[in-house]
Formats: sequence, C-alpha cells, structure tokens
Amino acid sequence: MADKKATLTLPGEADIELDMLSGTLGLEEIDVRILGSKGYFTFDPGFTSTASCESKITYIDGEKGILLHRGFPIDQLALHSNYLEVCYILLNGEAPTKEQYEEFSTIVTRHTMVHEQIHHLFRGFRRDSHPMAVMCGVTGALAAFYHDAMDVNIERHREIAAFRLLSKMPTVAAMCYKYSIGQPFVYPRNDLSYAGNFLNMMFSTPCEEYVVNPVLERAMDRILILHADHEQNASTSTVRTAGSSGANPFACIAAGIASLWGPAHGGANEACLRMLEEIHNVDHIPDFLRRAKDKNDSFRLMGFGHRVYKNYDPRATVMRETCHEVLKELGMKDDLLEVAMELEHIALNDPYFIERKLYPNVDFYSGLILKAMGIPTSMFTVIFAMARTVGWIAHWKEMHDDGIKIARPRQLYTGYDQRDFKSAINK
Ligand code: CMC
Repeated sequence: MADKKATLTLPGEADIELDMLSGTLGLEEIDVRILGSKGYFTFDPGFTSTASCESKITYIDGEKGILLHRGFPIDQLALHSNYLEVCYILLNGEAPTKEQYEEFSTIVTRHTMVHEQIHHLFRGFRRDSHPMAVMCGVTGALAAFYHDAMDVNIERHREIAAFRLLSKMPTVAAMCYKYSIGQPFVYPRNDLSYAGNFLNMMFSTPCEEYVVNPVLERAMDRILILHADHEQNASTSTVRTAGSSGANPFACIAAGIASLWGPAHGGANEACLRMLEEIHNVDHIPDFLRRAKDKNDSFRLMGFGHRVYKNYDPRATVMRETCHEVLKELGMKDDLLEVAMELEHIALNDPYFIERKLYPNVDFYSGLILKAMGIPTSMFTVIFAMARTVGWIAHWKEMHDDGIKIARPRQLYTGYDQRDFKSAINK
C-alpha cells in the first residue's frame, strides 16, 4: 500500500484518490489502475509518461545520463566485465562467483549449434534478402523446433529457453551473413569466447584459418555489452506484450527483432552509416543540418537524439573510445570517421540540437566500429538483435516470474458513431 495519494479532480464528480508509487530510484508514479472501474481511461500514445510494468533489471536516468544493470553502472561493466558475465547479471540479478560464471559460460558455449534442419530453412530465402528479415524468420522458426518441450509456466523450461536463445543467436546471426554472401555456414567453436566465436563464424572459411584479433574481439564484446538491455524500449515492450499472452519465447524474440528493425530504434546504426556515406564530405554537413532542422523535410540526423537520454548517452562515451581503439589497431584513417567527428562537433554546438538536447547516441559510433571490422551495413541491426536477446529474455523471464497479465491497452476512439449498414452489392 502506498503512503502518498494523488487526488484527481473531475468536473461535477467526487474526487478520485490515486496511490503514489515509489521505486528504488526514479520518478514517483501515479497508480491509475482503478480509473477503468471509475469509468475513465488515461491517454498516452507512445507511452511518454506511462510505466508499463514493474522491473528490477535496468535503470536509466536520462537527464543525468545514467544506465545501471542490476545497479551496476554501464561504463564499469563495459570496461571491467565481459558480455557473458553481464548476461548472467541481467538474468540472475547478482554478479556471479567464479564457479557460477564457469558453469554459466560452459552451458552457453555447449549449446551454440542449431538443429541441422535449420540449414535447409535458410535455403527458402533469397540470397539478397535483408539479414534482419532472415533473422526474424529463422528465430521465429526455432519455436517449431522447441515448442513441444516448452511450457512457459514451468520455471525450468523458461531457463532452458533462455540458454538456448543466448547460445544460438550468434550462430543464427552469422548464418544470416554467410548465406547472404554465398559462403558455407561455419560451425561454432567451443574454445573461443562468445565474441570471438561470433567473429570466427562470420569471417572464417574452410580454405583458410581465421585468427581472432584480440582488439576486435574486445570491441565486439563491448558492442554486445552496451546493447544488452535498455529497460522498456520499443522492442523489449514488444517482447513483453507478445509474451503476456503466454506465447512461445522464440516467437516472442522474433517479435522483438521485428520491432528493433525500424530506423527509429535498432535500425538507426545502419541508417546512420548510410547517412554518413551520403554526406560523404565535411563540406556537405551544413546542407544535411539544414535538412534536419527543416520541419517540411522528413530527414533526421540519424544517431542523434533519444527518447530517454536528454544528456549524453553513457554508452556513446565508451563506444567512442572503442571506435578510436579499433581504427588505431587496424591502421585505418577513415573518411567517414572524419565526417562523423565533424558532424558531432557541429551538432553539439548548434542551438537547434542544444535546445532539444539531441546528443549522439550509441548507434552513432557502433556503425563505424562494425564497418571498420569489415561487417556490412545490413548486418548492423542483426548484431544489435543478437546483443539485445539477453535483455529481451531477462524481461520475458521476469514477467513470467512475477505472474503474467495479458497486455491489453485501450484507445481514444475517434471513428464513426453507430450507423446503419446498407450494402451496395447485396440488396
Ligand atoms: N534530427 C533532427 N531533429 C531531431 C532528431 C534528429 N535525430 N531527433 C529529434 N529531433 C527533434 C524533433 O524534430 C523534435 O523537434 P520539435 O520539438 O521542434 O518538433 C524534437 O527534436 C523532439 O523529437 P521527438 O521526435 O519528439 O523525440 P522522441 O523522443 O519521440 O524521438 C528518437 C526519439 C530517437 C526517435 C529521435 O531522436 C530520432 O528519430 N533520432 C534519430 C534515430 C536514432 O538515432 N535512433 C536511435 C535511438 S538509440 C538506439 C535505441 O535505443 O534504440
């Protein structure tokens, strides 16, 4: 029971008392759940002021630029942890002991192969399909391989689904790439790290040994950490909504992938790189800035702005450093990086961007790193999806652990009033 109350005053009616809820951190929330029974709904398209659930996984303070996973700051995790340890933390709530980590990483590593039948599934796609379309389709199809053994009401089944998804996503992601370039699929290797194994499945071929570069391996691991979870964003909310009906977890994750694909969300890293390529030269930046500010032009500066961060995205700081490390390691002086740095500098000093608190987000830099690694643009969002899978599963599990209630929003109906139907074809 909440101690504080808010009072809703409605014209000509008795006031309604609403509970005020307080979490560990963050804004106070007004519990509006009783309003439906009083004959009212609240209206909040895009959920700009609405908390859709209770969660213990991730906390963001957008004003201060803070991101915590289970209380741990993202920069500490990115610099001192690795992706699998972060996965353990997200899924289990605490940092693992050495033994717990060994056991967790061994289970993930030993379940990375996919059913051979899935190889045939790929052949149904055109080679020039967008890898996100293939990723979405193949992940949804995993439900067909594991549905019988899955009862979402049994905790152990949910745990097995979590391990399967975490283990198999890099394999599926790399298969999407290999299929698109006509190369044979590469089987996972248990002696490599999560990131190293993914790079090996992406770049090795039967003709030549591929040696994983430790700087690139670390950079890939950081990209995975920095994209692992971000509380109730569009794709995570989609996974929760899909899962709220008791749907199969692989199907729920496929729904999350579909939501992530959009350019306002995970598709931004791909869109950002395409934009930098289009800008091409620092001299063209003013033209693009003018377009970004023009209300009659749908163009937006991709990689800038965030629904929650109205300060610097803390993930972008680490990503920026990693970007420089990778380019140095590869001895690359990239023209696009020059365009990106100049664009960042100009936008950060432009009143339009300052007033609207539009700062570079994580996707502004991740695309540059992936490009330097030789990963094609169309694979960027696939890698984001692979990284975010753990966040989606953590939320899906939490929702089930807490007891599911089907998501069923209402609406403000603005269509016709009731009217009589007269058919023009059936007299
Ligand atoms: N370029 C130019 N103007 C912008 C941009 C941008 N990238 N982003 C927002 N604005 C303007 C917008 O026109 C509006 O101006 P005004 O107040 O004059 O109408 C104001 O800033 C507020 O924008 P909004 O659309 O109301 O803000 P939002 O919170 O609904 O949108 C966003 C957030 C991320 C969708 C948006 O900033 C955007 O489209 N950014 C580019 C795409 C991008 O980089 N997305 C990746 C997000 S990070 C990855 C992830 O977490 O998924």
